[in-house]
Amino acid sequence: MNILITGGTGFIGAQLVPVLAGAADQAQGDHLTLLTRRPEKMREHYNAWAETGRLRFIASLDELSRDEAFDAVINLAGEGIADKPWTSQRRRELHASRALLTESLGDWLRRAKHAPQVLISGSAVGWYGNQGERILEEDAPAETGDYTHQLCRDWEAAALAAAPPSTRVCILRLGVVIGPGGGMLRRLLPVFGLGLGGELGNGQQYLSWVSRSDVVQVILRLLTDRAMNGVFNLTAPAPVTNAEFTRTLARLLRRPAFFRVPASILKLGLGEMSTLLLDGQRVMPSRLLGADYRFVHASLEEAIRAALNRESAA
Ligand SMILES: NC(=O)c1ccc[n+]([C@@H]2O[C@H](COP(=O)([O-])OP(=O)(O)OC[C@H]3O[C@@H](n4cnc5c(N)ncnc54)[C@H](OP(=O)(O)O)[C@@H]3O)[C@@H](O)[C@H]2O)c1
Repeated sequence: MNILITGGTGFIGAQLVPVLAGAADQAQGDHLTLLTRRPEKMREHYNAWAETGRLRFIASLDELSRDEAFDAVINLAGEGIADKPWTSQRRRELHASRALLTESLGDWLRRAKHAPQVLISGSAVGWYGNQGERILEEDAPAETGDYTHQLCRDWEAAALAAAPPSTRVCILRLGVVIGPGGGMLRRLLPVFGLGLGGELGNGQQYLSWVSRSDVVQVILRLLTDRAMNGVFNLTAPAPVTNAEFTRTLARLLRRPAFFRVPASILKLGLGEMSTLLLDGQRVMPSRLLGADYRFVHASLEEAIRAALNRESAA
């Protein structure tokens, strides 16, 4: 396939791109065009693929000709939601890097001569807002006052508007992605490794997670399965409370995790961004299960174990 990818140079892309493009020494693979603010650095990083001609890096959609015929577009670009406090400037960046970038993708798709068969576009379980213990399938209503809902709502709306009428659209409401070398685990490992891990707030907030391998496998399925379209909760079917997550990670690392960080401290330090840690969603991937998708890592323990094995092998 010929695939255009935004946001393919991050944590998810690090596994997705080699799977799609094939190993550098293999003869077969998809042809990928990656939109990135760092084309030179990425070319260097993927140097081993240079000879294959299967990877191209562009800094702007203006570099694409109208004749370009992409079979699929995968749209994952977005500034890190947990990287900096949500000042009004930061909210503009979070919005621009998702909704506005998706709108400009739509502008390009309208100019292009060929419509892709499928647009797979990112979103997050934050779309549901803070929902306590309620089990959330794809048709559950959102807490519309929450910032994460508003950000994801605009991102999803931009994706639906960007797709030409003949293009199948799949929206991924991603849970926290667990894998080696990045994401939440990379932030937690140093803390838990020192025995300083612990529950956040009362520990009862739900965390919906998914392994990075499952994110990649689901994207592969959506690329080719014409029966799949619409919104998909991309989470493992076993969401856990923060307390359970903390216990599982500490046990697998063989470290104590007695420190409890009070909600008031997190609110003081992080402002509204503390909702990422103190609020939660108990999400079920009902549409993926209904489509007989078998999760590579259906339990948190398996997902963390697999990530830790890869960390120690690296
Ligand atoms: N990982 C998770 O746990 C998780 C959970 C829910 C949702 N998601 C969403 O899924 C997407 C991919 O996740 P990830 O973990 O792979 O993210 P990541 O490692 O933070 O990578 C972010 C990607 O977005 C691009 N990007 C960032 N800011 C941009 C900007 N201002 N303009 C254009 N491109 C920009 C980056 O490209 P360059 O730096 O190369 O330009 C990079 O490819 C993100 O949108 C994220 O919000 C992730």
